[in-house]
Amino acid sequence: MRVVWATDIHLNFLRPQGRAVFFSSIHDCRPEAVFVTGDIAEAPCLLDLLHEMRQAINVPLYFVLGNHDFYHGSIETVRRGIQDWCQTQSGLTYLSFSGLIELTPKTVLIGADGWGDGRYGDYHQSPVKLSDQELIRDFQGLNRDVVLAKLQALGDESAIYLREALTKALESYKRVMCLTHVPPFKEACWYQGKMGNDDWLPYFACKAVGDLLLETAQKYPQCEMTVLCGHTHHAGTIQILPNLYVKTGSAEYGQPHVEEILAIE
Ligand SMILES: [Fe+2]
Ligand SMILES: [Fe+2]
Repeated sequence: MRVVWATDIHLNFLRPQGRAVFFSSIHDCRPEAVFVTGDIAEAPCLLDLLHEMRQAINVPLYFVLGNHDFYHGSIETVRRGIQDWCQTQSGLTYLSFSGLIELTPKTVLIGADGWGDGRYGDYHQSPVKLSDQELIRDFQGLNRDVVLAKLQALGDESAIYLREALTKALESYKRVMCLTHVPPFKEACWYQGKMGNDDWLPYFACKAVGDLLLETAQKYPQCEMTVLCGHTHHAGTIQILPNLYVKTGSAEYGQPHVEEILAIE
């Protein structure tokens, strides 16, 4: 199965003509499906831009959402809105709610948004303040400790969902592809060829999901797990265990691109 993967496409930064050029670059790859690992747009235009993309690429689109997708909205409202809407659309699947998707008889697709859960790096000493805290309603006006509790809860929520999906997936499939927005390991938080530092890591990695993947990969050594993610906008691949790979995709605002054409057996 031939699949195009792109991440952090931030479609709201493009004019219609720029989006059309990007969509036709996907079409030119002749994929059977497209994966997008979050930061697709921002809340007010997310649904319209997903619809526009699906119409243009004309193949099934599987995606998770990233932090930017909730800007100018609230997390729960955006998630529910997109989930409900996808159920009325053909070929648009929000993996954070869809359960398992069989890609081939051997390979299954799962996904969850993930969140920088404040557990790697040094949250309390970090001078970093993401726009998330001003632009996502859930975080507005909260103090640092309450924000941390929310970040952790968001990471845990993705891990709980993925635990159930992975357990089912590994009963029947040899290979699992997992889409998530936030890198699940600090080793996968690439920044200009290096790992993110302690100031950025609290926001760049989702430890809750990483711990779950590690535990599951160790428990099922005969199964192969590949994670695709984005969020840091810098590319890299890391083999965490013999059967657990994490690919982080690159991105530049206003210049979305096909990160990779995957051949899935
Ligand atoms: Fe992004
Ligand atoms: Fe992001």
